[in-house]
This record gives sequence, C-alpha cells and structure tokens, in this order.
Amino acid sequence: MTSDDIFVGGVSLVEIADTYGTPVFVYDEETLRARAAEAATVFDEGTAFASKSFLCIAMARLAVEEGLCIDVSTAGELDIVLRAGVPADRIIVHGNNKSREELERAVDIKVRRLIVDNFDEIKNLAELVSLTRPLDVMLRVIPGVEAHTHEYIQTGQEDSKFGLSLSRGDADEAMAQLSLIAGVKVRGVHVHIGSQILDVESFVKSLEIIRTFVARHELGEVCIGGGLGVAYHADEIAPPLREWGERVRVAAREVLGESVVITAEPGRAITATAGLTLYRVGARKDVDARTYLAVDGGMSDNPRPILYGARYEAVRVQQPEATRDGCFRIVGKHCESGDVIIDEAWLPAATAAGDLIATPVTGAYGYSMASNYNRVPKPAVVFVRNGVARLVVRRETLDDLARLDV
Ligand code: LLP
Repeated sequence: MTSDDIFVGGVSLVEIADTYGTPVFVYDEETLRARAAEAATVFDEGTAFASKSFLCIAMARLAVEEGLCIDVSTAGELDIVLRAGVPADRIIVHGNNKSREELERAVDIKVRRLIVDNFDEIKNLAELVSLTRPLDVMLRVIPGVEAHTHEYIQTGQEDSKFGLSLSRGDADEAMAQLSLIAGVKVRGVHVHIGSQILDVESFVKSLEIIRTFVARHELGEVCIGGGLGVAYHADEIAPPLREWGERVRVAAREVLGESVVITAEPGRAITATAGLTLYRVGARKDVDARTYLAVDGGMSDNPRPILYGARYEAVRVQQPEATRDGCFRIVGKHCESGDVIIDEAWLPAATAAGDLIATPVTGAYGYSMASNYNRVPKPAVVFVRNGVARLVVRRETLDDLARLDV
C-alpha cells in the first residue's frame, strides 16, 4: 500500500476508478475462490453456491471450478448459469412459486436437484415428470426455528412462505404425494432458516428438529441451506465458514448418523467479504447537525441499509492511513432522504469532493439487488487477482436503460 492508494489483489483502486469509472464493484478473486473451495471441502458433494448473493457468468464459472454446484431460484438466474456453461447436473433449482415454464425447463435439462416447495408444484410435477423424464428432488421443510436475524430474512419460522410445515404434517403429506409420481426420486430434505445468522447453534437446532422426519422417510441427504452471516461492521464477529461447516458436520453425525450426506448453500459467506464498492464523492455539505458526503451511487447499488438497517464501514482511498477524525453521513444521489449508505462514517476530516471512498464487505446482495431507480445505470464489476484487473460485467449505459421502451 502506498500512502495515496489502496491495493486489492495487487491492483490500485485509484487505477480501477480511472479505468472503469465509479461506482464500481471490485472483487478479490482469490478470496472468492478460497471461500468457494472451503465450502466445497467442508460439506459433501452437491454443496452449492447461492447465486442470488451475486451472479454473473464469471462468478458462476468460478464457483463450479472450485467444486461447487449452483443454486438458482428463477429462470433468470438459471439462464445466466447455463450461459456460463454450467452443466445441468451441477444445478439446483429453488423457488416458492416456480412457473410451469421454470419447472418444465428444470425437467427438460434434468437438473441435479429440484427443491420442492408446495403442493401446487407437486401437482405440476405429476404432469411433467415420468419414468422417461425423471427428476431428483428434495423437499423443503419449515423447521419452526426463529433464527436471530432481520425479520425480512428469517425463513425458518412456522409463519413462512417457504417450504412445508413439519409440525402440521404437510411435509409428510408431500412425501406421500411425491411417492405416487413415477420418475420422481426424493433424495432428501432441505431446510433453510434465514440469512445473516451469526449463531451457528441455530443450524444445529434445525438438524435436531428434522431428525425424526429424516429417519421416518429414510432420507439419505440433508441440505441445511445457506445463511451464515458475515461481519459488516468493526463491532461484529462472524464465525468463519470452516467453523460453521465443521460444527454442522459434527452435529449432523450425532443427530442424523454417519451415512447422511450433508450439503449447504452459502451465498453471502462466499461473496460478501470478497467485494467492495468504490465510489467518488461528488459533493460535501455541512448542515448544523452533521456533514454529508454525497457519492455517485447509493440505494440503487446498495439497498441493504434502507431495507434492513444494514451498517457498513467506509475508507478513503487516498491516504487511507490518515487519522479518521471526521464523522460523515455518506449518502447517494437518489431523490430520497433515506438514500443513506452509512449513517456515521469516520473518515479523515478533510475528505471532500473528488475523493474516492470504498465500502468493504459489499460483495453480497449489492449488485444482485441493484436497481435502476432514478434511471441510474448499474455499476461495472471488476475481478482483481495477482496484480491484474478484469472487467466481468460492463457498466450499464443510458442506451441499455432505454432499450425496453417501445
Ligand atoms: N438457500 C436458500 C434457499 C436461500 O433462500 C438463501 C438466501 C440462500 C441459500 C443463501 O443465503 P446466504 O448464505 O446468502 O445467507 N437480500 C438479503 C438476503 C436474502 C437471502 C435470501 N435467501 C440481504 O441482503 O441480507
């Protein structure tokens, strides 16, 4: 690191901003690869990358190269994964409202697993699957576990739109219905309790809850979903992916026995810390209460603060080691007061228009939830590794934005 720049993957952030413009998502490819490989090693074959956390062709290829399958939950995610050349037997299809076309496509290409969510879907499968068009599925169950995370990203509680309830007997009824469809093979059970979970014991609890169901139906595979949290802020601590995997494996062995295959579907734990967003400050404004720094992106590239009250850290790229003696509210360029990236960011007091600011740990659910609010084009995405930057998704242009108008 020089005193006037920050290097990621051996590449200067100043140079990235000059070459690709801002805002821009920058991913450290070594970190992505290391986390993906770790997930593939610590869990069994069939473990998937949750593409919803960050998907582009380069990311899909990377995940598969490191030994993972890929979980998709819409036709759009499936399309990108197929364009990346991922074979169907590495693809896992999710969704709580899969369209007839989405189901048909999954059967046509014979995906590795389809995760069954509801009774209407089972009716559709009865018409689409046959001995000559077989399909391996897993049943998504509601464990009735309330994970400690934001209400919007809790999924394991009884009152949920995802999966079928164990306690109401719905999951057993689904097993009975699936057993009547020739060509459907129920490989196992899927349980996902939520996202940004920092307490590994919640996962152990869900294993205990599905124990009798797994035994009753003699299921050989359990997917514990994704959900491992990351530390976004200096005062948070998150268990490393390996620790999560090892704890779940030990518990699974005790609770379910040696022979059950244990897979997972991490998204955030692979992508979040690998990515940062680089912005340029365009305006600084002092009011009585505080000082604002307005950057050239905002809620369109990071809606997490406005959606979940998510907190981030910021660092100034120029002279990153200078004393952080100024407190700023970092806001975007959108026409809303809620367009806040960081409520209280500590940066050098002299930070001003023209400076570059990086927000680390923005690799998950930033680009993938980006919008075009105020007709702001989506940022570019750049991978860096061994001193080399490569553009993996180009910046959207105004022409891109206009192309749908007829
Ligand atoms: N598997 C299933 C079935 C899921 O629904 C999800 C996330 C994952 C795996 C991956 O979860 P992860 O490991 O990334 O926590 N937009 C929210 C997160 C929504 C998560 C949705 N499902 C956020 O920005 O926090």
